[in-house]
Amino acid sequence: MALALVLPVLLAVIRLLPATTAMSWFAHPWLAVLTYVPISVAGMLIPRISVAEKLMASGSIDASGNMKRFDWGSRWGAVAMYSFGAAVGTHLIPGNGFFSFIWACFLLAANSLLKTIQAKFRRSSLLNFSLYALSLAVPILISLYVGVMLWQTLQEKMGMAGSIPHPFGFFVADIIMAATSGYVVILALSPLIPVAGIWLASSRIVLFLVSLSILGASVSPQFFPYNTYAPKRILLQRTFSTQGQRILGADYDLAVFDANSLPFVFKNVEAVPKFLGLEPGFSWKTVSKSPSGTWMAIYPISRLFVESYRFSAGNKVVLKDDQRLPHIILQNVKEDILNPDRKRIYVEIDMGSLHEVWASVLNITGPLTSWSFSDERLPVPEVVNGGPPSYICRLSGKDTSENWKFWLEANTSKPLQVDLAVLDHELDDDTRTLLHLFPSWAATIAGSTYLSSYLI
Ligand SMILES: *[C@@H]1O[C@H](CO)[C@@H](O)[C@H](O)[C@H]1NC(C)=O
Ligand SMILES: *[C@@H]1O[C@H](CO)[C@@H](O)[C@H](O)[C@H]1NC(C)=O
Repeated sequence: MALALVLPVLLAVIRLLPATTAMSWFAHPWLAVLTYVPISVAGMLIPRISVAEKLMASGSIDASGNMKRFDWGSRWGAVAMYSFGAAVGTHLIPGNGFFSFIWACFLLAANSLLKTIQAKFRRSSLLNFSLYALSLAVPILISLYVGVMLWQTLQEKMGMAGSIPHPFGFFVADIIMAATSGYVVILALSPLIPVAGIWLASSRIVLFLVSLSILGASVSPQFFPYNTYAPKRILLQRTFSTQGQRILGADYDLAVFDANSLPFVFKNVEAVPKFLGLEPGFSWKTVSKSPSGTWMAIYPISRLFVESYRFSAGNKVVLKDDQRLPHIILQNVKEDILNPDRKRIYVEIDMGSLHEVWASVLNITGPLTSWSFSDERLPVPEVVNGGPPSYICRLSGKDTSENWKFWLEANTSKPLQVDLAVLDHELDDDTRTLLHLFPSWAATIAGSTYLSSYLI
């Protein structure tokens, strides 16, 4: 049974070692089925080959007492296993043993049926097996249904996760799909194997199944992993670093989800690197990674990806006449008379002239002891990439024409570092142009983020 899991996983790893593109099956799920299912079935049959061939060689299967013991042993074993599963499942979570229970019931009935027909017909006839399989149709269909749902859900989710660093991240999605395919095969077919194995467990059939899988693995590089319905997910952020009413820097930050990295995207969309001013044949070593805090406005979504690059926009950005940047205003500081180090700081956030603010995020680092949010209680501080512990607060849903007022309390004279990130839906013309360069197989989400930092 373990082979049914191990072999597809092994094939996934071997396939990816020379490859530059992972997840070829993402837009073509049948590719994953072709690649991972046959080899998984083969994995279940392999341990039976020697037994089955010996039985065949010994002449008439009917006469073999060995065969009978082997056969009935594994079938009653399956009933026992599922009954046990039902008992344990029900005990742990009520209602959870349903699945095993159905299997156990049907196996029990199927075994009696098989015994009856075996008494009537020749023991090894295909009819026996067909009737046996037919009597198990209900649990097989239920298992297949559950398995395929699980498989589909995971397949879709694979396009959104990529927080495992290279080079392991490259393999993870394929390994998960391979293992899931193996799991579905085991779930739906394992009780059939003790009976079916007698006919199927020949080296020729196993070889055929393995060849099918190898065929799947070898054609998969011909397929592009994404299309409009299974898109590559990309985040594009116009990042403005600001101080007061000045823009210190305006950059584009790009992050991608899943196993195929940003270099993969740039290779397939040449207009984007060109727009960003990169020479053809540029080296990725010269491209800088986004500094920490870049994706603060969407934290903790930023934990879903590891890789993010920054591209400087080149031309200087000048504020329009009526444009005002979001910033923090220090209103007043109240000191404690008994303990002069203790202070309460009253602050306001002015959203400037932004209209479509999705969220504003505060990141407070330092001797914070209380704040006016969440019943004046501090949450457990967050530690990002080994940085100092900091408190993150997300503000959203308020009218941006009004200032947001709050206070912070500190108990030492050391200042608090307050970082503000405001994410706005509105894009400037340059960013909109860049956004439209991405093809239809890319689902690109774009926004403008204003970052500023204060010591108070
Ligand atoms: C919050 O600020 C600290 C200190 O500057 C930094 O290490 C951390 O990465 C920031 N958190 C986020 C989510 O950006
Ligand atoms: C400030 O508050 C923190 C957290 O409550 C505490 O660990 C620390 O000892 C306090 N420092 C002073 C100087 O009171």
